[in-house]
Amino acid sequence: MLRDADVLSLLLQRRPGYSLARDFYTDPGLFEVDMARIWYRDWLMTAVSAELPKTGNYVTRQIGAYSVIVVRGADGVARAFHNSCRHRGSRICSAAKGTNPKLVCPYHQWTYELDGRLLWARDMGPDFDASQHGLKPVHCEETGGLILICLAETPPDIRPFAEAAAAYAGPHGLSECKVAHQSTIVERGNWKLVMENNRECYHCAGSHPSLCRTFPEDPKVFGTNPADQAPVLRNHIAKCEEAGMPSRFLAAPDAQWRFIRIPFLGTACSYTMDGKPAVSRRVGRVPFDDAGSCLAYHYPSSWNHFLSDQGLVFRMSPISATETEVTTTWLVHRDAVEGVDYDLDRLTEVWTHTNDEDRAIVEENQRGVASPAYEPGPYSPQHEAGVIQFVDWYARTLQERLTGRAMMAAE
Ligand code: FES
Ligand SMILES: [Fe+2]
Repeated sequence: MLRDADVLSLLLQRRPGYSLARDFYTDPGLFEVDMARIWYRDWLMTAVSAELPKTGNYVTRQIGAYSVIVVRGADGVARAFHNSCRHRGSRICSAAKGTNPKLVCPYHQWTYELDGRLLWARDMGPDFDASQHGLKPVHCEETGGLILICLAETPPDIRPFAEAAAAYAGPHGLSECKVAHQSTIVERGNWKLVMENNRECYHCAGSHPSLCRTFPEDPKVFGTNPADQAPVLRNHIAKCEEAGMPSRFLAAPDAQWRFIRIPFLGTACSYTMDGKPAVSRRVGRVPFDDAGSCLAYHYPSSWNHFLSDQGLVFRMSPISATETEVTTTWLVHRDAVEGVDYDLDRLTEVWTHTNDEDRAIVEENQRGVASPAYEPGPYSPQHEAGVIQFVDWYARTLQERLTGRAMMAAE
């Protein structure tokens, strides 16, 4: 089991442009360092607004050792709380989702308001002060139809991301969408292998026959590098911006998040086998079908695609050094009717296949990395620039937090 000092030493030995040393993908101690220094410190994509459309709707999430409730209050605000009763610590909500007018602990029925205040606790004596026993809050931010939480006492500044999400996701009206489908799979791979796999399409031609019908596998078209964009991408960005949709490459200075709106191949409009829209009603105020896909990622937890006919939100949750849960949410216009405006199989077909293909790739990657013969190999500068960027972000962020010193993004 590695500790902080061992991890720092591994980071200092890291060869930029190469995959990480085996321990980063396999060691339980290093996994705990990742959780403590990254997952318990950063903003995490945790739900979509459409999962909590009404007062009292809640979801629960497990982030490492923490159990969290995210709930919609009577005032319409989404809030997050530690799912641990202030009496003797029982979990209050055990279901993955549900609706409750109040949050009632199942053990001794302490009853909390949806904003976390303790309303009722039986026979606690005259000196008991209910106002000191409200649920412990977790930072929560809702923007552009997405809900993020942060477990840190003092969270990083979410405003730049929140503003970008409101601008780029805004035209897609995700908060007025409904959840058409949600799938959760467990990939037997480290969370960084899951994210690395997501940040490149070097593997797409060999693994994703259905995705490759519509998604451009050329990095100059899916926009990894703002300084090297194909004319078809530049034209698409110009067309969409002219129509009022922010589309150009926009990223955090430290590269923790990024938005860009890319074109599909040819005349395709959606992730379907024939490229035609999957839903007959467009979302939000997207003005035409061929708006392509607005790609948004936020490290460490999420990547997303916002289309003219749907929103696709992916979030992952590490379970152990070698297991990661990935949840995909398909959002469609709230008034779209299944069987009339869309067929669920057609809507979900491409990404159900793609997710399963990615799961298999990540699991093979994990098995191979676990071999004593594994040594870090070089990323393709042309096709895996996004992976290099992710791994650099990860290594730089972890090193800063282990040493307490800020490093320059270019280091
Ligand atoms: S532990 Fe929750 S009411 Fe007792
Ligand atoms: Fe993939």
